[in-house]
Order: sequence, then C-alpha cells, then structure tokens
Amino acid sequence: MTEKKSAASLRAGFASRATPEPCSLVIFGATGDLTHRKLIPALYNLAADGDLPPGMNVIGFARRDKTDEVFRQELQEAAKKFSRRPIDQNLWNDFASFIYYHRSEFTDLEGYRRLRERLDQLEKGKGGGANRLFYLSAGPDQFDNILARLKASGLAEASGKNWARVIVEKPFGTDLASAQQLNEVVRNSFDESSTFRIDHFLGKETAQNIMVLRFANAIFEHLWNQRYIDHVQITASEQLGIENRAGYYEGAGALRDMVQNHLLQLLCLIAMEPPTDLRADSIRDEKVKVLRSLRRITGEDVARSVVRAQYGPGSIKEKPAVGYREEKNVKPDSQTETYVALRLLVDNWRWADVPFYMRVGKRMPKSGTEIGIHFKNAPGVLFNIDRDQPSRRDGSQNVLVIRIQPDEGVSLRIQSKIPGASVRIQPVKMDFAYGTSFGKASPEAYERLLLDAMAGDATLFARRDEVEEAWRFIDDIEEGWQAVEQKPGLYFYPCGSWGPAEADHLIENDGRAWRVA
Ligand code: BG6
Repeated sequence: MTEKKSAASLRAGFASRATPEPCSLVIFGATGDLTHRKLIPALYNLAADGDLPPGMNVIGFARRDKTDEVFRQELQEAAKKFSRRPIDQNLWNDFASFIYYHRSEFTDLEGYRRLRERLDQLEKGKGGGANRLFYLSAGPDQFDNILARLKASGLAEASGKNWARVIVEKPFGTDLASAQQLNEVVRNSFDESSTFRIDHFLGKETAQNIMVLRFANAIFEHLWNQRYIDHVQITASEQLGIENRAGYYEGAGALRDMVQNHLLQLLCLIAMEPPTDLRADSIRDEKVKVLRSLRRITGEDVARSVVRAQYGPGSIKEKPAVGYREEKNVKPDSQTETYVALRLLVDNWRWADVPFYMRVGKRMPKSGTEIGIHFKNAPGVLFNIDRDQPSRRDGSQNVLVIRIQPDEGVSLRIQSKIPGASVRIQPVKMDFAYGTSFGKASPEAYERLLLDAMAGDATLFARRDEVEEAWRFIDDIEEGWQAVEQKPGLYFYPCGSWGPAEADHLIENDGRAWRVA
C-alpha cells in the first residue's frame, strides 16, 4: 500500500466509525468514586456537546438507600468539581432528567428482576429499543455476583436487534490465573464481541494519535526500526500519592496498577506493525503480537532489568509529604512498590536489540506521561567530526517526544546552527501542541470510551488475549520478586524526587540516561 493510499484510508476509517446507538446505561457501583469523578462528568460533557444518542437512560445501581432526586443532587456536586467544562444549570437539568437510581444488593436476584421491569418501562416511555450497556464499576470481588445475576434475570441476553453489552473496569485480575478466571466468568454471561475491557489510557486523544502519527505520515515509518532507533523511553509520573486507595493499592503496586495495562498498551502502539485495516480485531491482533514478542524477564534477570521502589517522606510542591508506609491503611512495613523502572526487549525483526525503558511512579516532582523515541546518532563526519564517538547522552540525538498528558503534543529535537559567523551547533525543538493547533480541549478518555461502547466499537478496549498475554509477562516479574521470602531489592526515594538512584543505574549502565522531563 502506498503512503497516500494508507493515509487516505486511515482518514476514511476514522471518519466512518460506527455511531453510538440509543441505549440504557446501568452503572454498578453508582455511588463510588469512578462514577462521580469520571463517568458522570464524561456523560455530562457528551450531553453538552450533543453527542449522546437520543432517548438515553442512565441508571445507577447500588446498595445504599436513596431517591433519584438525592442521587442526581450528589452527582451534580461531583460534576461541579470534576467536569472539564463548568456546569450550566439548564443543561444539567435536562441531563439529570434521564438519570435514575436503583437500590439493590448485588446478590439479590429480585433486584435485577425489578431493574428489568424498570428498564422496560423507561424504554417503552421513550419509544426506543432496549439496547443495554452494563458498566461494572463495583469492586472486582462483586463482578461474579453481578454477572451471574444479569444472566439469570435475562438482562444479559440480546433480543432481536437489541444488544446487551458489558464494560468491565480495571483491575482485570491480579495475575494470569485470576484474569483467566474472570474472563471465564464474563464469558458465561456475555460473548467476547459484547465485552468491553476498559484501559482508559487507550481513550486518551494522544494515545489514539500514535497510530495516526506513525501510519498517516510518510516520514516516520521508514525510520521506525532498529536500524535508526537507539532506544525508546516511556515515563508516567504522578505527583499524587495513593490518596484513599490503600485497600486496593497495597495488593497491587505500581507494576500491576500501571505497567500491566496502561504502559504495555502504549508500548504496543509504538511497537506494533501496521494493521491490515482499521477493524478492532486487526489492530488488536498486531498488539497481541508485540506482547508475545516481549522477551520474558525471569529469575535473576528480574533484579537486572527491573527496579522497584517505594516513596518515603519528602516534599511535594514545597510542602512536607508523608512516606507511603505512613499513609492511611498502609502496613508500617509494607513491601508494595510505588515506583518501577524496567528495561524491556521486543524480540522481532523490527526491534531486535532496541531497549524500551519504562518508569512509572507516584509522588514524583511532576505529573506527566510521555514517550521518547531516541534516534541513533548521525555519523561522526562533517559536523560531528570533532567527536570520535558521539555519546548517546550528550543531547545530540534526534528525539521524537509524544506527550500523552498534560500539554498534549509532539516535539522533535533536531540540531541547528547557532546564528553567527562560526559553526556552532545546538539542539532545538520543533513543537506541535494540541491546545494551539486545534484550539479546543481534548475530550476526556471516558467520553470517547463510553461512546465507542454504545457504538459497539471495541478498538480502544483490551481483548481477552491481550489482557492474558500482558499478565503472562508481568507474572514472571512478580514471581522473581517473590522468589525469596522477603521481596528483594525494594529501594526508597523521597517524595518529590525522580525515583531511586538504582533506576538511574539501570539505564546508565547501558550508556544512556533518562530524558529530563
Ligand atoms: C489508574 C491507576 O488506572 O490510572 C491510578 O489505578 C493512576 O493509580 C491512574 O493514578 C492514572 O491515570 P491518569 O489518567 O490520571 O493519568
């Protein structure tokens, strides 16, 4: 395929995405954090942009007793805090008029039967079909209960042209065995084409742009391989600590919380081959191949290729901040990592011997996610003549930086002549920023993902085999850590620092350095 053709079909492919269909969205765990912080603000913004399908119903399903009115009021308070655009009272009133609250225990089959009757009534009142989208945002220990009862009450069944789909929030298992078990539980109630596993990083505008950048431009793809690329760096840093999530985070840690899903997905988008077309499965087939090509890190290699660390006391934004072990509900001798740095290899022809360095951590000096593609040095002739061996660390490499968030954009570092009579060279940056180029804020990831699930487009959701392959890779590392009684090599870094010195050594031992963000 020529570049011209592939760019044109890429544009056409994106433009012709399926449209969201009228449906009822039932949120399990409706009184939880995710509903308040993300789902309702996302739905409100979609409503404000006129993007929601007509005749929609949103039903919050949860255990606490409350009326529709009280529920709407609580959601409005949250939306005021978390919506990307300010709340307009008239718009909110219209939006809230199709939000309802349904009280039931997750284990009470009768509650699901009542839900079914209520949905029938609401949908009949709007003369619409009975498409249903179930959002599992309750604790994962409830997934089994909910899914079994959705099936037993007949709610999980598609009927005629009407569909029933399920969105499953993370964490999707805690290791390969639990993910496989959860996949079986889901499959008992919904088939794969009706299952949408959330990885909200895939919904981020900038993550979606990676494929466009690579495959709609003629200049990158020819250089996108081990001949021209020296290494890749993926960094996801957060200033936030664990907030009130010790219950979950203590059992997870940074490797499971961020690497298994979000960072491996970003790596796949960078490393994958061009898909044959833009169908969800064509794209996901290519991503799975990358996961299968990852060189497994096992046994003693774990300590050589992975650094794990935990934040100790320090300061954030010039204010003192407590260490992880002093956070609420964290064990005083917790061994959970809040930071991890890895060196990965993708064993295929394109990427042979090109290291991918990843680091992710909480309580870092800045929040930001970016991918740096570091190109090999220009030959040591002409302008590089006075350097026998241009170093990989002297800033002379071309680096393509994809800023996933914040300050979304792409920049390219090139060498330039400093104006003047002599030839002196300095790196400069060519910069594209979403904010200035498109003049409008990017939608939140959940907006795009909710619409895609309503449209039945699974491209930005993780397929069963993707999730399982990613766990296979992560499990080896977790096993390496558990191999001796006390988890080995847990290092410490003060809040507000870029991680432990050992993570610097990981990359410096290869003659490279972390990019200064
Ligand atoms: C979540 C993790 O999946 O992603 C959190 O559980 C993390 O620990 C969050 O803070 C980061 O997402 P975002 O979109 O805020 O960068």
